[in-house]
Amino acid sequence: MAPSFKPLVFSGVQPTGNLHLGNYLGAIVKFVELQNSHDCIYCVVDLHAITVWQDPAELTKSIREVTAAFIACGIDPKKHIVFNQSQVHEHAELAWIFNCVARLGWLNRMTQFKEKAGKDRENVSVGLYAYPNLMAADIHAYRATHVPVGEDQKQHLELARDIAQKFNTDFGASIAAHGFGEAFFPLPEPLIQGPATRVMSLRDGAKKMSKSDASDYSRINLTDDADAIAQKVRKAKTDPEPLPSEEKGLEKRPEADNLVGIYAALHNKTKSDVLNEFGGGQFSTFKTALADLAVAKLGPIGAEMKRLVQDPAHIDAILRDGSRRASAIAAETMKAVKDIVGFVH
Ligand code: TYM
Repeated sequence: MAPSFKPLVFSGVQPTGNLHLGNYLGAIVKFVELQNSHDCIYCVVDLHAITVWQDPAELTKSIREVTAAFIACGIDPKKHIVFNQSQVHEHAELAWIFNCVARLGWLNRMTQFKEKAGKDRENVSVGLYAYPNLMAADIHAYRATHVPVGEDQKQHLELARDIAQKFNTDFGASIAAHGFGEAFFPLPEPLIQGPATRVMSLRDGAKKMSKSDASDYSRINLTDDADAIAQKVRKAKTDPEPLPSEEKGLEKRPEADNLVGIYAALHNKTKSDVLNEFGGGQFSTFKTALADLAVAKLGPIGAEMKRLVQDPAHIDAILRDGSRRASAIAAETMKAVKDIVGFVH
């Protein structure tokens, strides 16, 4: 019989640059929904951020900004846990153990590393390469069972499952001997659902919307004001055809597909619903409706974020409280892992 684990949601967001519509629709909206059905732990992953250079003052600001975004979007840090990774040392400790579980061949297959390292592989940090092991440690430190993420994190989640599986197998006898049954770590389930699991750049339907794109017109930031949002939607790349009436008509039309997906996700509808309403019409009409919808949804979030970051002491207190509660869980896990591995403590 497969061992059963208490359902627990874990996910993380990096404090680097501006949060955008992709982060919001691909991840944070799901974080908010899951609060109604699960215990949730949401982490500002600052240890991940420094795998590439971060200006220290900017990093501090970004950690507070992501926390503010979580709260402005509706995450309740009292009912659930919101914290920053570097305050819970077990993440780094467990990551080391996973460095010794994961195989070089597994990490060599990670497409995100290949993309980020590019041609300059000799010169990127060791942390950037080992990053997926730290991500596995984030999840497994809480023995989390469900992980809401965008499509781009799927491969990292598969690695987290492979690591759990190998740990459970390699240490099987010790796990049983210490009374943990057949498996110590659950195989976490990725939650990648809905019409906007991969939001694309507004300038190029073949590229992911990303914090690091040089063009600010490629993304809608959570802190953009109404004018900026409306202008970015108006300027978004499209093609000359009118919108199709059925989803099949979006094939090979990446820009149209992206905008319809964004509208659907913001409205909590399917792409089909959206095409029922706008199919056959011109892009200009659809773009006006999309801009209005985006302003209505994101405007209040941006305003609340700006208000919250005015009071850094309040945000820091939330993170300290969350870290304290996260530590209590992670310390239990780490204690068990030390027993299982055979460390004296
Ligand atoms: P990060 O900070 O790059 O992104 C945060 C979340 O936003 C999602 N996302 C997108 N979704 C749809 N369309 C897009 N264009 C888009 N861009 C980003 C990401 O999939 C992610 O869910 N490694 C992770 C953070 C992390 C983590 C974890 C996640 C660290 N430890 C443990 C889950 C569990 C990252 O860099 O996400």
